[in-house]
Amino acid sequence: MGHTRRTFLQNLALSGLLTTLGLWHSPAARAAAYEATVAALRQGVRGEHKAYTRYRVFGADAGSEGYHGIAYLFGAVALSELIHAQNYNRVLATLGQELEQPPEVMPVVGTTKENLISAMEAEIATIDKVYPAILAGVEKDELASAVRNVQYSWASHVQHRDALDKIRRYSPTYFETVARRIDERSERYYVCQICGSVQSKIPEDRCSICLRAPINFAYVEPKMLAATS
Ligand SMILES: [Fe+2]
Ligand SMILES: [Fe+2]
Repeated sequence: MGHTRRTFLQNLALSGLLTTLGLWHSPAARAAAYEATVAALRQGVRGEHKAYTRYRVFGADAGSEGYHGIAYLFGAVALSELIHAQNYNRVLATLGQELEQPPEVMPVVGTTKENLISAMEAEIATIDKVYPAILAGVEKDELASAVRNVQYSWASHVQHRDALDKIRRYSPTYFETVARRIDERSERYYVCQICGSVQSKIPEDRCSICLRAPINFAYVEPKMLAATS
């Protein structure tokens, strides 16, 4: 018996056994069973990519305007968005979905002060409107990995909004002062590779969003961000 034929028969026998046990479904059957999840996660991937591009562009512009602290924060948040998109892609792959690169959506760019405000507005819309719809989509099918990753991203977006709001709150009058203070503080950022949580210190105990160990936090190297902008 040829190797290919033997492998085919072995796979056939294995899939028969798993089907009997209720553990195997063809990719098409899995995708059909999780239709709402697939649609919600695809929407999530597009939104996360859009946010990633927005923060990369805003970060590069802030750097070229000399606001290095804000550029660094935007860069760290961009990495968080990328983790959200990767998490969704991983779940989509388990559902037999072909991954596609969403089209790059360029943001409307203003001054760094204006970009901060529009980033805040985008985060608020994401938290209040986009994520409730995505969560409702994945909750229909009750696929635990999908629900969990959507909850991680949602909580992570609340953190983004809070971090940006600290700067924006003073920006109408004191933007320059606040921006310079951020530069002087030379903050360090760390991003949880599991959920995308952005922190200025590695938590001692566990990640406040995904509850995983501190070892999952990766330092965001400012030079690396500058090199890839
Ligand atoms: Fe995100
Ligand atoms: Fe985390």
